[in-house]
Amino acid sequence: MSQSYYITTPIYYVNDKPHIGHAYTTLACDVLARFKRLDGFDVTFLTGTDEHGQKVEKAAEAAGVSPQQFTDQVSQNFRDLTNKMNFSNDDFIRTTEARHKAACQEIWRILQERGHISLGKYEGWYSVRDETFFTETELVEGKAPTGAPVEWVEEPSYFFNLSQWQDQLLAFYADNPDFVGPESRFNEVKSFVKSGLRDLSVSRASFKWGVPVPGDDDHVMYVWLDALTNYVTATGWPVDGAAGDGERHRRIWPADLHMVGKDILRFHAVYWPAFLMAAGLPLPKRVFAHGWWTNEGQKISKSLGNVIDPNLLADTYGLDATRYFMLREVPFGNDGDFSVQAMIQRMNGDLANDLGNLSQRVLSMIYKNCDAVMPALPTPMDAQDLALLSSVDGLLGTVRQQIDRQAFHEALRDIWSVISQANRYVDAVAPWALRKTDPVRMGEVLAVLGETIRQVAILLQPVMPMSASKILDQLGIDTNARDFSTLAGAVRLPAGQAIEKPEPVFPRYVAED
Ligand code: MSP
Repeated sequence: MSQSYYITTPIYYVNDKPHIGHAYTTLACDVLARFKRLDGFDVTFLTGTDEHGQKVEKAAEAAGVSPQQFTDQVSQNFRDLTNKMNFSNDDFIRTTEARHKAACQEIWRILQERGHISLGKYEGWYSVRDETFFTETELVEGKAPTGAPVEWVEEPSYFFNLSQWQDQLLAFYADNPDFVGPESRFNEVKSFVKSGLRDLSVSRASFKWGVPVPGDDDHVMYVWLDALTNYVTATGWPVDGAAGDGERHRRIWPADLHMVGKDILRFHAVYWPAFLMAAGLPLPKRVFAHGWWTNEGQKISKSLGNVIDPNLLADTYGLDATRYFMLREVPFGNDGDFSVQAMIQRMNGDLANDLGNLSQRVLSMIYKNCDAVMPALPTPMDAQDLALLSSVDGLLGTVRQQIDRQAFHEALRDIWSVISQANRYVDAVAPWALRKTDPVRMGEVLAVLGETIRQVAILLQPVMPMSASKILDQLGIDTNARDFSTLAGAVRLPAGQAIEKPEPVFPRYVAED
């Protein structure tokens, strides 16, 4: 059986419609999931919605419907987005499902049985928008560090003994130097833990919209303990529960990667490992924190009215161009800015000119000058042919390492440098000039280019699934000869088959005004 790869997105709060930030996190996971599938892994890709807590309860109240009705509606928007963006998730979890409630109550029981949870009283600040507790000293000008308003909370609460886990967390970080990426963020996590941890309030008693604490109906579980548990729920845990699946749980847990935004790294890299250690469950292998998007240089916020709707991006620029832009424009892990100008430059430069023209030129020449039949590669090849093919054969190894570090921008950059090399090769060997003087050599040159385009398109499938398949269709590549075992020289472009009249895959974008 092939090796398991389990990747998760954060589960999204259903207080609001999906925006570019949500689409970005899930897109990154989708690309990883597709990449790993093509590379022979048995992939489980999970996303979903975080439906409990005070924030959602308040949003439902404001909308004048019950929390359940409200979450049913808004959760659907997130499901619709997965279709619209062509996300290939294998499961979609909602925290209001029975399987999840069972997992939450089980993890609670284990933590309590092992003596890690005890009843006390919480007195302090709470930010509903962040669903986070803050001390007086953490506040900035009377607000949460995120700028969200806080309210004073005084209520009975269960506490998790987080303060006891400092040494074990630090030892775990030391033993697992790749646990958090990027490295700079890992350093922040370590300093936070080194500075000392306080016990964490893990229940709320002043509202009802949550998973009831086992044995104490006055409390619901803190929404973050509830939410984080989704990652194990979906593996079929608890294995002897109604939705249990011991085989699946053992096969896919621990997760290979939790992808998160930088704002929620602490929950995933500190609290979650502490909960898991305390419950005696294995820890995830890696957490990656990506940056935030701004819109034309401005922070995105509802009050500024500049929230970017991913549906609109896909409608305006095309889905694959949007997917490409988001991962190429910004070094993954850094903050990035969306601007119309940058979007159009990527579309017209990288996509329409560099890749689109290359493939359109080569395929049209084959169609017109080789009787629409794919020509064969030269034997032997000359130095220029070999140089190009050795670059494209080398891509898989390089790109695989980059993708394993979540360096999407580097992978795309290196693929594009081979595309540029192919464009220089076309200019240097000038196949159009060979048409009269040496038609055999012309065919060989077009085949070298066809082979280059084949490998590039196969490698681009995770990022631009539809456009890459169009190119592969045009090259006549069988749908079951498109995985990564066909790269790096393992097989070559099949010759002799008829090709259809090629159609451009990447249209130029012309602004309306
Ligand atoms: N429900 C919690 C996660 C629980 S996971 C066990 C949550 N939800 S969220 O809907 O508020 O945010 C989900 C993700 O969207 C976060 O990782 C966050 O970083 C990301 N983004 C929200 N706004 C963003 C941008 N402007 N840019 C990029 N990503 C941002 O937190």
